[in-house]
Amino acid sequence: MSILSGKNILLGISAGIAAYKTASLVRLFVKVGANVKVVMTPASKEFVTPLTLSTLSKNPVYSSFTSDEDENAVWNSHVDLGLWADLILVAPATANTLSKMSNGICDNLLLAVYLSAKCPIYFAPTMDLDMYKHPSTLESCKMLQSYGNIMIPATSGELASGLVGEGRMAEPEDIVAFIENDILEKSPLKGKKVLITAGPTYEAIDPVRFIGNHSSGKMGFEIAKASANLGAEVVLISGPTHQKVSHSFIKVIPVVSAQDMYDAVHQYFETSDIAILSAAVADFKPKEVALQKIKKKESTLTLELEKTKDILASLGSIKKQQFLVGFALETNNELENAKAKLKAKNLNLIVLNSLKDKGAGFKTETNKVTFIDDKDTISEFQLKSKTDVAKDLLNEIIKQINA
Ligand code: CTP
Repeated sequence: MSILSGKNILLGISAGIAAYKTASLVRLFVKVGANVKVVMTPASKEFVTPLTLSTLSKNPVYSSFTSDEDENAVWNSHVDLGLWADLILVAPATANTLSKMSNGICDNLLLAVYLSAKCPIYFAPTMDLDMYKHPSTLESCKMLQSYGNIMIPATSGELASGLVGEGRMAEPEDIVAFIENDILEKSPLKGKKVLITAGPTYEAIDPVRFIGNHSSGKMGFEIAKASANLGAEVVLISGPTHQKVSHSFIKVIPVVSAQDMYDAVHQYFETSDIAILSAAVADFKPKEVALQKIKKKESTLTLELEKTKDILASLGSIKKQQFLVGFALETNNELENAKAKLKAKNLNLIVLNSLKDKGAGFKTETNKVTFIDDKDTISEFQLKSKTDVAKDLLNEIIKQINA
């Protein structure tokens, strides 16, 4: 999975011959899992049709401030489009559009979106070689970069005019790679190794039965995705779950029992920078595992259970540079219990879920959490999707490791 997966990309197209390449660009963005909306300058529609781009992006294409001419006119809000975008790419960016962008001229929808956007903005200058070298073009590019916009330089080669030189728009594959690398370079967890546990563990009773719990693994998988999206290299050790993830930065290691999870975690902990243990590990396992299926001969069956190893506590006792995060699922005396676990297991941060809160805990899409750190700082959050809880948790960890 690409770092662009799930990102909202607004592609701004201005009127250069390279606009024909934007069809491939949209396809590539969609292929890596991004959501794409296209805003065209009116003149660019001479070079590539809105129908092609709306079909490929699976979204309407915008080129004016209203969608209809008459009294049914619908406003295409430049503000909403700008806020929707996680990043904007203007490609091709012609001399005309570059000059208007750098001077704050705002006479079409694309320019208005550019001016109102708060996200990172990339631009790919494209024009004939002498236009590209013209001092005013160079000045526009310089000014735009001084405002924090990111230039994807033109390449050299044969140009539409037949001349050979600098001014060709970078190839769509190279533009996608450029943006991916740029985002990764600036990602706060770039180069960090994050170890995560997720899901339940199953403790065998006999060859067909086990003791387990209702954990879906959703929270841990969301934490893994959020970490990878921030540039981390993730090892996700998961008990049996239906969750799926496919991301080039996430290595999934499936395990079954608490002992399997313990062994896998210890294999990766030493080289980890951050460990987040969200798994619902069984606290007890049958002392003896029957080799054959247990028959129902008697009217009662007594199983003797023994404690599993506490994985989190074992990490707390050996941790060096690692930032260690645990979870506490509580039903009563929540804060005291969570604080006691934080101390007893030598954690940097604990995430408290209370089962008293509706929508928190196992098998839900949402969670309501409180973070408690080792300096006793308590941060309480509203009920949120587990995706957003994962983002909040990573933000908190980044804040703490950079403090
Ligand atoms: N945990 C673990 N290994 C275990 C049990 C728990 O790593 N054998 C971890 C969980 O992944 C979680 C944290 O410990 O991050 C807290 O789990 P929880 O069940 O709330 O607490 P326990 O320490 O097991 O205490 P109790 O069940 O008595 O509340």
